[in-house]
Amino acid sequence: MYNSIDAKSNDIKSNYHLLISGIVPRPIAFVGSKNNNGDENLAPFSFFNGFGANPPIVGFSPALSGRTGEPKDTLLNIKEFPEFSISIVNYDIVEQMSLASSEYSRDIDEFTKSGFEKFKCDNIAVSAVKGSPFIMECKLYDVIELGGKPASGNLILGEVVKFHVRKDIYTDDRIDPIKIDAVSRLGYSWYSRSNKGLFEIKKPRENGIGFDALPDYILKSKYFSGNELAKLAGVNSIPSFSTNNLTDNKEQIISDCKKLLSEDQIDKAWQLIIHLGNILIEK
Ligand SMILES: Cc1cc2nc3c(=O)[nH]c(=O)nc-3n(C[C@H](O)[C@H](O)[C@H](O)COP(=O)(O)O)c2cc1C
Repeated sequence: MYNSIDAKSNDIKSNYHLLISGIVPRPIAFVGSKNNNGDENLAPFSFFNGFGANPPIVGFSPALSGRTGEPKDTLLNIKEFPEFSISIVNYDIVEQMSLASSEYSRDIDEFTKSGFEKFKCDNIAVSAVKGSPFIMECKLYDVIELGGKPASGNLILGEVVKFHVRKDIYTDDRIDPIKIDAVSRLGYSWYSRSNKGLFEIKKPRENGIGFDALPDYILKSKYFSGNELAKLAGVNSIPSFSTNNLTDNKEQIISDCKKLLSEDQIDKAWQLIIHLGNILIEK
């Protein structure tokens, strides 16, 4: 009837996969934090939930690296500066969130790398993600270390001192469950969209070049959505291609490029982006 697995004798990786593919779907906390130098950081965490309403307490858990046992920047930052923001992730920003999960070094600001505008909080000195449907400003309540070994968790509990609900998802003082369009995490590369079902996003293998390395003619244009730009910004370097024999029709190039991005043919999409740049420069 059941496959019963003894957690104590099971290896760490298998326990991890059982947890993340059996405890599903998990909400995603997109956590803004900063260190004492003022460098801001942004990273997603799905070992996350709310734990009480009086006072309002939320918690999430940045694990120590399974490979090196090193702490994540978010944990180091919150120990240094005990305030953080949590922005809820909706479908419109899911690819940018995935890009922000890359392991950029501590002085790199993932708000910039993943193309987010900063939302200035009222009661804490840390930014949140502008555009997120629901933002919580939190002050550190406690950090509970859960083992101190590689892959051990560190439960960070925060007291919410302010909520921000985007006006268009707030009807009669209630959050609309359809309009919030929140995204949650399942095992492996699976995600779920509250009212639309499952989809996959492959984990970034290397640190993407980031939004700050995208050419202005696409970044400042309105051709591409945040999710599409995040796919382009997720490559490790801009590929170089011959752009012979491609159409010079701008609208056609953009539409072909969007199709390639939707099929995750990122290198081919970049070929069209480079071609588009050549055409715009020639004009
Ligand atoms: C959707 C999603 C959920 C994640 N949840 C967790 C989590 O609960 N705990 C954790 O340690 N890492 C989690 N990660 C990985 C971290 O986001 C990743 O290690 C990130 O680089 C940490 O950033 P930091 O070093 O700037 O804190 C998650 C990644 C994604 C994409």
